[in-house]
Amino acid sequence: MTEHITHNPKETEKIAREIVANILSDTKRKEATMLALYGDLGSGKTNFAQAAAKEFGVEETVPSPTFILLRAYDILKNDFTKFIHIDAYRLKDEGELHQIGWDDIKKDSRNIILVEWADRIEKAIPKNAIKIYFEHISEHERKITIKI
Ligand SMILES: Nc1ncnc2c1ncn2[C@@H]1O[C@H](COP(=O)(O)OP(=O)(O)OP(=O)(O)O)[C@@H](O)[C@H]1O
Ligand SMILES: [Mg+2]
Repeated sequence: MTEHITHNPKETEKIAREIVANILSDTKRKEATMLALYGDLGSGKTNFAQAAAKEFGVEETVPSPTFILLRAYDILKNDFTKFIHIDAYRLKDEGELHQIGWDDIKKDSRNIILVEWADRIEKAIPKNAIKIYFEHISEHERKITIKI
């Protein structure tokens, strides 16, 4: 477990880039790589997601997907070919995931899956997911706790 305090979005983005660099340095994968993000409204999840997407080679702007459950971006970074951004905020529970073909997405080792509001679908988050917790400390301070 590692903890960081960030003081602005740029610092949060730097943490995202470091985590992506770590993921890219590890080559043995049997299934999708999952980043599960937890934390309240405005705690920095999308800020982090956008920086991670960019580091994986997503060239488009990644919007906050609040009204869309899933957006997939084509990438070519090591063996990864898709960056999948999920916002589970509006889901009641993991039972609704079948509509996006969750099991197939999760099986494919070429996928990076980043989930905001991962607590909504906690039972579907695999044990080997990288879990990242965001907490408000003050207006500009966020505590980011990483559990691998
Ligand atoms: N240290 C910081 N790290 C990240 N964002 C920060 C920080 N300080 C201030 N902010 C601001 O906090 C907001 C974070 O918004 P963001 O959309 O990333 O949150 P979120 O967790 O995705 O929220 P939601 O659950 O509503 O989607 C932005 O407006 C950003 O500018
Ligand atoms: Mg968000």
